[in-house]
Amino acid sequence: MAKLVNISYVCVIFWLILGFGDFVTPAESKAFFVFGDSLVDNGNNNYLATTARADAPPYGIDYPTHRPTGRFSNGLNIPDIISENMGWEPTLPYLSPELRGQRLLVGANFASAGVGVLNDTGIQFVNIIRIYQQLNYFEQYQRRVRELVGEEETQRLVQESLVLITLGGNDFVNNYYLVPYSARSRQYSLEKYVPYVVSEYKKVLKRLYDLGARRVIVTGTGPLGCVPAELAQHSRDGQCAEELQKAASLYNPQLVQMLNQLNNDVGTDVFVAANTNQMHMDFISSPQNFGFVTSKEACCGQGPYNGMGLCTALSNLCPNRDLYVFWDPFHPSERANRIIVQQILTGSNTYMHPMNLSAIMALDSRA
Ligand SMILES: *[C@@H]1O[C@H](CO)[C@@H](O)[C@H](O)[C@H]1NC(C)=O
Ligand SMILES: *[C@@H]1O[C@H](CO)[C@@H](O)[C@H](O)[C@H]1NC(C)=O
Repeated sequence: MAKLVNISYVCVIFWLILGFGDFVTPAESKAFFVFGDSLVDNGNNNYLATTARADAPPYGIDYPTHRPTGRFSNGLNIPDIISENMGWEPTLPYLSPELRGQRLLVGANFASAGVGVLNDTGIQFVNIIRIYQQLNYFEQYQRRVRELVGEEETQRLVQESLVLITLGGNDFVNNYYLVPYSARSRQYSLEKYVPYVVSEYKKVLKRLYDLGARRVIVTGTGPLGCVPAELAQHSRDGQCAEELQKAASLYNPQLVQMLNQLNNDVGTDVFVAANTNQMHMDFISSPQNFGFVTSKEACCGQGPYNGMGLCTALSNLCPNRDLYVFWDPFHPSERANRIIVQQILTGSNTYMHPMNLSAIMALDSRA
């Protein structure tokens, strides 16, 4: 035992002499930044006067503390599981008072439930952090880090970081299709609305690039018409709701096209498309293959498919969350999130375009 310790000591000293210490660590510990909506919010809305919140039981029932945290999940969400897989500390919500000092160097989560690409998406939730405000906070974050570690180190931290952004679902569910004859649906046909949202999204991503981001995973929307909330309201005999499915099928390919264009514009593969639509369709077409008993019924909720209203302490609650694709009427369970992250990490080109996260990590550690 003592001998082993000695040997590893010698190795460490060798590493340091050869400069491997510098070479190995930075690639492995990247800062991680998260932007977007409830699929990735890890508690920012707890600090806001909004109805879009997940800070009451049974949310968090399978979280390590078994308490609600603001995550729209029974346990961990996608950013948590990415951090876990990478061996990084989980990011804190940007609004958390605990996010200060050295903890800033881990990164931050700016996401806010209810937001969309468009500024008018989610107005019914009143006080949420719209995407441009999330980007302004990212700028503010960089100022704070500069005070801590200086200009050069801050620039490096941001450039070598990983970014995840999840937006778009709410521009349909909580805007265009929120009510019949919504303002946006009177203004645009679906065929015109989709390219409009995508072109506005392009501006958001350009600004993210201008703020220094160089590795950005952009998720598409899931099959919007297949979530329990839509099945409950719009579906006959469990078929996915047609209009929302059409929206997703128009939006996702145009998003990928736009990301390709952006990569062409900047001359390198900064933006990586995660085909979350296909990942979810896999669950929906054969839930049993993944160990789920249903992809239609939410674990927590009420009414048909447990898809009506919100998930609250009074709702039906399934005993084993691991058997459900959907935790609540809109959001996946931790176990579904784990399978999605596995695809983000190692998925083929169908799922991750132009490359998966393992390939990104390998590439960036060589740079
Ligand atoms: C949304 O708001 C931001 C900043 O508040 C603004 O710069 C942008 O032009 C707005 N987008 C649209 C489409 O109005
Ligand atoms: C990740 O993507 C690369 C490139 O597309 C592919 O060759 C590889 O099989 C995928 N999986 C892993 C674990 O890298």
